[in-house]
Amino acid sequence: MQRLELHKEMTNSAATTCFVEASVYQIAGVSRFTDSSQDMLVKKAGSATDPLWYKDAIIYELHVRAFQDSNGDGIGDFPGLVSRLDYLQELGVTCLWLLPFFPSPLKDDGYDIANYVDVNPSYGTLEDFKRFLAAAHQRNMQVLVELVINHTSDQHPWFKASRLAPPGSPERNFYVWSDTDQIYKDVPIIFRDTEKSNWTWDETAKAYYWHRFFSHQPDLNFDNPAVMEEVLKAMRFWLDLGVDGFRLDAIPYLVERDGTACESLPETHAIIKRIRAAIDADYTNRFILAEANQWPDKVLPYFGNDDECHMCFHFPLMPRIYMALRQEDRLPITDIIAQTPTIPDGCQWGLFLRNHDELTLEMVTDDERDYMYFAYSADPRMRINSGIRRRLAPLLDNNRHRIELLNSLLFSFPGTPIMYYGDEIGMGDNIYLGDRNGVRTPMQWNSDRNAGFSTAVPEKLYFPVIMDPIWGYQAINVESELADQSSLLHWTRNMIALRKLFRVFGRGTLEFLNPENRKVLAYLRCYDDAATNTNETILCVANLSRFSQPVSLDLSQFAGRIPVEMLGYVPFPAITTQPYPLTLSPYSCFWLELQPAPETHELSETSRVSL
Ligand code: NOJ
Ligand code: CA
Repeated sequence: MQRLELHKEMTNSAATTCFVEASVYQIAGVSRFTDSSQDMLVKKAGSATDPLWYKDAIIYELHVRAFQDSNGDGIGDFPGLVSRLDYLQELGVTCLWLLPFFPSPLKDDGYDIANYVDVNPSYGTLEDFKRFLAAAHQRNMQVLVELVINHTSDQHPWFKASRLAPPGSPERNFYVWSDTDQIYKDVPIIFRDTEKSNWTWDETAKAYYWHRFFSHQPDLNFDNPAVMEEVLKAMRFWLDLGVDGFRLDAIPYLVERDGTACESLPETHAIIKRIRAAIDADYTNRFILAEANQWPDKVLPYFGNDDECHMCFHFPLMPRIYMALRQEDRLPITDIIAQTPTIPDGCQWGLFLRNHDELTLEMVTDDERDYMYFAYSADPRMRINSGIRRRLAPLLDNNRHRIELLNSLLFSFPGTPIMYYGDEIGMGDNIYLGDRNGVRTPMQWNSDRNAGFSTAVPEKLYFPVIMDPIWGYQAINVESELADQSSLLHWTRNMIALRKLFRVFGRGTLEFLNPENRKVLAYLRCYDDAATNTNETILCVANLSRFSQPVSLDLSQFAGRIPVEMLGYVPFPAITTQPYPLTLSPYSCFWLELQPAPETHELSETSRVSL
């Protein structure tokens, strides 16, 4: 199990503060060592030891409110989350992304922040958060929190002061005010089911304020340097506590300019560079993840020159995975990957199948959107804004083969997989709850009262648990899936464990093969690193069809190698210069490690994962 040991070493925790090693550098042509006692920079390290840790991470997105209630008030909290960390560690996740847990009126599930530097009392105290952070780090898990800086709640003291302050005053300038709603007129409305304009008239201020999201979420004014300073202060607050990174919410919309779409402006990129520089100056091994819902070429600038975000979500890939599945044709996937540019060395794509929002269809054409609505949202209640508000398992008709297939793509495509809580057990949704809340119901732990989430009377829960005969907690819960070796939970754990044995998934290259049968998606993942003596070549073959499919692959460049099926460690016939035939059952997927021929190399035991 060398790989496993290597992995453990790679992700071991470090002390929270470290000294950057003394370096040799040139001043006026003279080389000297930095004086360790005087010049040495002190940077605060994150909990991971490898600066590129996020490339190998398995990220798990969860809401504290939805995970585990510890005090019976019907609302999940930090002590509850701590009590479930063992579960997450055993699942194999290495990084937790927490949805916003700050003081908030909760009109947008916490993305309406009223105080950036505290914990919502419903979820616990700051001390509880610190205890959670230490407990996560102790388990070698990194922690990612939200930096929602495009807007605040209208209940934030900055906004309360701003609407009262005279025009032109520093307080007023914290937000974007105007006497007219006729500027920035062509900027699209994102929450178009609820908002009619991006401007709202404020009776107190006698002016309009700008908001890209709900009208209770006024946009901060990044033309005011004081705003930037406050944002950096909030960021440092959490970094000093030891969080390992941030998801940058709604990052394209920071700055507005008339006559533009007010998205991704150079001034916005200057702000992101400033954030990154502030992190790099004082901290190590931290990272930022951009929520930039844009086409791949428009996302590229968010990586900058390795000086903006370390990771960006790949928004356009996600709906095309669902499209390829329903059309039984690999083209939507290969086409969007072909449009995906190369990113700087230190950067990574964040891959996901579902999250806490609707399955967004902004990054598809009108025809593709119509198709997705037709294929995946039979009931109009399933639609919201430009998307579909359903969870993974219901989207896939609870078909275990389809769920496994999509997860196998998530875990083997180039990038870091980001899972949404509950999807590992195939949780359902509740389309009768408003907004996107149908996918935010309590985690289903067991078949006890309230799914083991809370001891409160059921009426008191922040949202009802799911109770119908197919998706209800009596049928779908962690405890019963742990007891069932054939469950989706066990399958997911195995896939994560397997992925973690290989660096190629997080760091390797991708090359599509082009077999005649378009219902089959076949791709090579390769990673060659002389420094660590790592050479991994993996062939993934996925059948997107509901029927069995034959496929013939040109693998002649690997003639002599033995494909070894990675889950069962089963050697397949050796590759020759002839087309390599495979037969795939409906929705099945092979991960095959292409090992050197046996005469030069004994089939290595190191690839085996214990099942
Ligand atoms: C993006 C978040 O993912 C979403 O949940 C939220 O409503 C908007 N940003 C506004 O903050
Ligand atoms: Ca509670």
